Amino acid sequence: MPHSIRTATTDDAGALAALAAVTFPLACPPSASPQDIAAHLASTLSDRHFQAYLADPDVTVLVIDAEGGLRGYSLLVNRPATDPDVVSALEFLPSVELSKCYVHPGHHGLGAAAELMNASLAAAAGSGGKGVWLGVNSQNARAIRFYEKSGFRKVGTKSFRLGSTVEHDFVLERAVP
Ligand SMILES: CC(C)(COP(=O)(O)OP(=O)(O)OC[C@H]1O[C@@H](n2cnc3c(N)ncnc32)[C@H](O)[C@@H]1OP(=O)(O)O)[C@@H](O)C(=O)NCCC(=O)NCCS
Repeated sequence: MPHSIRTATTDDAGALAALAAVTFPLACPPSASPQDIAAHLASTLSDRHFQAYLADPDVTVLVIDAEGGLRGYSLLVNRPATDPDVVSALEFLPSVELSKCYVHPGHHGLGAAAELMNASLAAAAGSGGKGVWLGVNSQNARAIRFYEKSGFRKVGTKSFRLGSTVEHDFVLERAVP
């Protein structure tokens, strides 16, 4: 499927929120309630939130742009980690957080995610990062496999609150290419 990867602009905020509504639930464990997922989308991944991310100079959003609309996105945060569990785990500093990496299910298994990852790693390197870190739900086997294929290794764990439950994330890290 033809597509390109580009940096998002504020015009993409609505499409990014729509894509997040499709892809965020795929990253949640089966135990996550629809109410908690909906609350997380409303509090973190709405059109308004993406407008704020896109206006933040420390944030880079990359998108997979295909015929028919956006089919994936990554969001990088170029700020020092604050979670003590993450801070103590990271080896390659300064480290850029790959805060979000989501591909529409219609594009899974086709190599688009690897292209998005390569562009994200290049963006992290371009902004001065020596490493990239991310948190991934410990039950998200597909994403963990994808990140391992992309050169990440597990360096720790951290907690992630989704509504009323505390989820357990693995912390993964790699050096920039
Ligand atoms: C994570 C994501 C970006 C990866 O993109 P992708 O196109 O699916 O990645 P790939 O197909 O290249 O790699 C996935 C790997 O997991 C494997 N896999 C698929 N289902 C799996 C499962 N249930 N258990 C273990 N491995 C699995 C695939 O076989 C593949 O490995 P292989 O190439 O060695 O065969 C994409 O799946 C996605 O957006 N998922 C939903 C959102 C999400 O979870 N994002 C990450 C949040 S941290």
